[in-house]
Amino acid sequence: MAKISIDRNRSQGTISRYIYGHFAEHLGRCIYGGIFVGKDSRIPNENGMRRDVVEAMKAIRLPVLRWPGGCFADEYHWRDGIGPQENRKIMVNTNWGGVTEDNSFGTHEFLELCRQVGCEPYITGNVGSGTVREMSEWVEYLNSDGDSSVVRERRANGRQDSWGVRFWGVGNESWGCGGLMRPEYYADEYRRYQNFCRQYGEHKLYKIACGPGDVDENWTEVLMKNAGSCMDGLSFHNYTIPGGWDHKNSATQFTQDDYYETLAISADMERKLMLHARIMDRYDPKKRVGLIIDEWGTWFDVEPGTNPGFLYQQNTMRDAMVAAVHLDIFNRHCDRVFMANIAQTVNVLQAIILTDGDQMVLTPTYYVFDLYREHMNAKELDCFVEAGKIGTDKFSLPGVTASASEKDGRITVTLSNLHPEKDEEVVIRLRDEAIEKAEGRILTGKMDQFNDFGNALLKVEAFSDFEVKDGHLVVRMPACSVAEIRL
Ligand code: AHR
Repeated sequence: MAKISIDRNRSQGTISRYIYGHFAEHLGRCIYGGIFVGKDSRIPNENGMRRDVVEAMKAIRLPVLRWPGGCFADEYHWRDGIGPQENRKIMVNTNWGGVTEDNSFGTHEFLELCRQVGCEPYITGNVGSGTVREMSEWVEYLNSDGDSSVVRERRANGRQDSWGVRFWGVGNESWGCGGLMRPEYYADEYRRYQNFCRQYGEHKLYKIACGPGDVDENWTEVLMKNAGSCMDGLSFHNYTIPGGWDHKNSATQFTQDDYYETLAISADMERKLMLHARIMDRYDPKKRVGLIIDEWGTWFDVEPGTNPGFLYQQNTMRDAMVAAVHLDIFNRHCDRVFMANIAQTVNVLQAIILTDGDQMVLTPTYYVFDLYREHMNAKELDCFVEAGKIGTDKFSLPGVTASASEKDGRITVTLSNLHPEKDEEVVIRLRDEAIEKAEGRILTGKMDQFNDFGNALLKVEAFSDFEVKDGHLVVRMPACSVAEIRL
């Protein structure tokens, strides 16, 4: 039996809705084919965007979308992707599969996508191979309503008013694919680039500096020390890669030991996050700078027969459990975590949506975002979990993960039974209060079950296998399940 104790009087603050953010890069079939098919496609679309995919993104109230990369961002020159299609430059996407990028999806198309989805854009500018002027003029093109050649150019391209983009990334993984920079060098570059990203009128930028990968504490230290005062957010990337880079797992064919290793790596996100947050606390005790976990999720071997540079992987209940573990951690640390963006939205890595021609399938990970949506902008509640350990000698973790929040007088608890085979009884208590009634929804299946085209059985279902006893809620959680309980 596991216990969850919730205290309405203790909270880390508001769970930013941006924690439920996503990421779409010019990588494989994420943008092209997955989201954007062009106006002339036989796949139903609005201004080139797939209607089915946009509808699915809307249904989970997707709050923010990061673009154009990723590694692609530091090779992307925004002027190549504006104006008449026949004048747009073509390039080879050297990071991802060596395919030709025709720049048919550019700034106007991305912002049209965000309009259709109803989400905020988060754009990452090019530091690695771009100039300060190029970045500065992109911000001007997006956000200025003054009279200048750049603004006239935007108007000539069909957009009269500024868009008012708020979230602005200054380079991506500048320690790696973004330029192999040392932290001292990047900190100086960050200061210079961000200085020329102007604030236009009401449009105040939220500037995000490139932060560490994994446990590179020195990067965080140097950045906070040398540039902390001129950033609003610091990014952090961390992927779940069981077996490591050289022995990656198959996304669908894995053992129970692989499953435990995967979940233990995911749970370790909390330790890593806290390592960086503690350094940030020293330079920024008031927690003004947000931790922006703008790339996270599973990274497995690509599906057999697919382009290795496209990072296309299936998505099982194991991925769903990974998502639940991460989102519970982010909720608990909402005092520092302001945004998170799972990688990546469609057809890449831990995708929420997969497409094949005109077909679309929603993955188990998608349904976790559906189950967690009530946490957005809610007050986080202290949620203490007591659960036995599961796993192997090498990789173990508590068998239950949970988080809780309150909005409009209703409490939402998300809880998961991570055990792949055993059901678990979970008792939920509210400190100093009796629980009267509850309603629930659940996603459950075998650890390696997935939704395939034409055979998608996994989905969120109504859940009522619980009862109130002595003011507590006793929930019978099936093996490998994620539930939302509303009190
Ligand atoms: O998400 C795939 C890649 O992973 C991104 O392009 C890069 O930032 C990271 O290394």
